[in-house]
Amino acid sequence: MISTDINEAVQCLVRGDIVSIPTETVYGLAGNIYDENAIKKIFELKKRPLFNPLIVHTHSITELDKFVDYTPSKAQILAKKFWPGSLTLVLKKKNNVPDLITAGKDTVAIRVPKHPVALKLLEGLEFPLAAPSANPFGSISPTRAEHVHNYFGDQLSIVLDGGSCENGLESTIIGFNGDEPVLYRLGSISIEEIEAEVGSIEIANKKEKAPDAPGMLSRHYAPSTRTYLVDNVSEYIKTKAGRIGIILFESSEAHQNIQTQITLSETGNLKEAASKLYESLHQLDKLNLDCIVAEKFPDYGLGKSINDRLERATKQKD
Ligand code: TXA
Ligand code: MG
Repeated sequence: MISTDINEAVQCLVRGDIVSIPTETVYGLAGNIYDENAIKKIFELKKRPLFNPLIVHTHSITELDKFVDYTPSKAQILAKKFWPGSLTLVLKKKNNVPDLITAGKDTVAIRVPKHPVALKLLEGLEFPLAAPSANPFGSISPTRAEHVHNYFGDQLSIVLDGGSCENGLESTIIGFNGDEPVLYRLGSISIEEIEAEVGSIEIANKKEKAPDAPGMLSRHYAPSTRTYLVDNVSEYIKTKAGRIGIILFESSEAHQNIQTQITLSETGNLKEAASKLYESLHQLDKLNLDCIVAEKFPDYGLGKSINDRLERATKQKD
């Protein structure tokens, strides 16, 4: 059931239920990190493999020491700058963080979300929340309560409605190699913004079998409609028959095969485009199109994060 009742969500979480929560990135499927049954339920609902660890969400940077053994100085700089916000830090964990959350790793991913509903909820709880994105494993992440409801229906007692997610892309994940930051996942905060605080950062290897951040798995964030990412949409659609849906950055196209087109930002604003990306994939995926064709975005700032998600959306199922 979709609801705006934070107190009811608190009660559900205290009794061990899973609640979908709004964050400024995407909606999450949240449960008490110390409740083994609740966490198992999250993995089951998402059909997520147990080797893929979860992010711990807490209400304040001051909570960090409860879960983390050692915080490199560049992690402190990033946490102070971007929390509450769309940054996840992967740090050496304390023993009290359950292995189920971290998939047996010696690190834990942590973030303080900025969405007022998420913060109020976390402040009302005596435990932090583990929350992966609220989509079945591999599908498009949800940016509205309705998306979550469409995926899980009555399997969830509450989808807490916090409106459309402001950023619309998952958090940027930064891990550490010794004291030096490593980018594990592109996301709502651009590499340029991170580097402005801590200098240049390494990009994690994409190891297909056991990636450091399994969000780097190649097929992910995918609609069920076959999707293509191309440099030149107008040339490409001339080669395609059938009913096509297209996603463009700032322009529009005219061609008889185009069934629907979505321009993500008429003013060429990457932040606006990022916030609308998943919503438009959800929308086009419902239309029974023969394919979706998306335009490659500029390779800087949030354009890089958008291209990353679109590339994964275009990968064929293994
Ligand atoms: O914006 C977000 O981060 C959203 C909202 C709900 O907070 N959450 C999210 O969670 O995207 P999820 O589970 O869909 O993606 C989390 C990613 C996964 O790829 C996971 O492998 C990685 O974080 N991760 C979690 N713990 C990790 C760890 N200890 N080491 C490396 N990667 C980790
Ligand atoms: Mg996810």
